[in-house]
Amino acid sequence: MKILLTGKNGQVGWELAHALAPLGEVIAVDREGLDLAVPDRIVSVVRSVRPEVLINAAAYTAVDRAENEPDAAYSINAAAVAILADEAKRIQALLVHYSTDYVFDGTKDTPYIEDDGPNPLNAYGRSKLAGERAIHDIGGAHLILRTSWVYSARGKNFFLTIRRLLQEKKELRVVSDQIGAPTSARGLAEATAELLRRHGAAALGDARGIYHATTSGSTSWHGFAGEIARLEQPDSPARVVPIASSEYPAPARRPANSRLSNEKLLRCFGVALPRWEASLEACHALLGKTAGSNGGRTAGQSY
Ligand SMILES: NC(=O)c1ccc[n+]([C@@H]2O[C@H](COP(=O)([O-])OP(=O)(O)OC[C@H]3O[C@@H](n4cnc5c(N)ncnc54)[C@H](OP(=O)(O)O)[C@@H]3O)[C@@H](O)[C@H]2O)c1
Repeated sequence: MKILLTGKNGQVGWELAHALAPLGEVIAVDREGLDLAVPDRIVSVVRSVRPEVLINAAAYTAVDRAENEPDAAYSINAAAVAILADEAKRIQALLVHYSTDYVFDGTKDTPYIEDDGPNPLNAYGRSKLAGERAIHDIGGAHLILRTSWVYSARGKNFFLTIRRLLQEKKELRVVSDQIGAPTSARGLAEATAELLRRHGAAALGDARGIYHATTSGSTSWHGFAGEIARLEQPDSPARVVPIASSEYPAPARRPANSRLSNEKLLRCFGVALPRWEASLEACHALLGKTAGSNGGRTAGQSY
């Protein structure tokens, strides 16, 4: 299987480059190899590689910044995605693309299913929804995997931010009125590779559509931070105090309910991600082994 992977230095992209390796030839590119802001470049790279599977792990993911630069978010998350979808269709490749819980407004009481109507609360969510719709309208073979609250042992994410703050503070105040599933980039990458390994590109193309793919179970950001504190500081964890979203104002509004039902992914493909606590423990253990290494980046909070 010949796979072209974009965004190889992102959280999910980096894990995909490893998880996909046993499946065949993986041509993984970063922004330098394929800048999604340059339409001609997208066309020329896809046409010269001619993959059977095109996996787009690149995205504009700065949720708060997108409020001030919605055009930049739209250009990467929608316009570029439309070109990828066009090019994939032209060479009859399967396009695997990632989207987000932030396409929903969070007012539903139960986990969202794929057929629920989207209504994004922020510019990032609107740009991701536009990308989903472009792929659907172009109509080639595709899988759109919606995920949530992604973290990994590298990059910028909530897990690494809390880990750092635990070293600096005795008490952390964390939002408790947003619920979702913290999803490890590794778990998502492994599930993606498993889909391709078990079913192959042609069968996945026949089952084209949107699938929710998060870890199972759910918690709040406060619950997530509490579990990180328990793992990092088993003897005397810092106090993690629940606060309301209104006490932590951010430029972009976030949904209160980010839970996604993964039932369709399991029913159609027999694939499920682990529980969020198990994935978190694995990521914690991994960092313990590679202490001091953060992929050369600084931890921050993008979600
Ligand atoms: N992070 C989350 O919590 C979350 C939640 C739900 C869904 N998702 C979705 O999951 C997917 C993977 O997200 P992630 O967390 O792995 O994101 P990430 O860590 O922010 O990585 C995104 C990657 O995209 C690359 N990129 C940005 N602009 C680009 C451009 N113009 N050309 C080429 N590459 C560009 C970045 O390159 P540089 O390294 O050069 O900046 C980065 O490597 C995305 O579709 C995202 O929308 C993420």
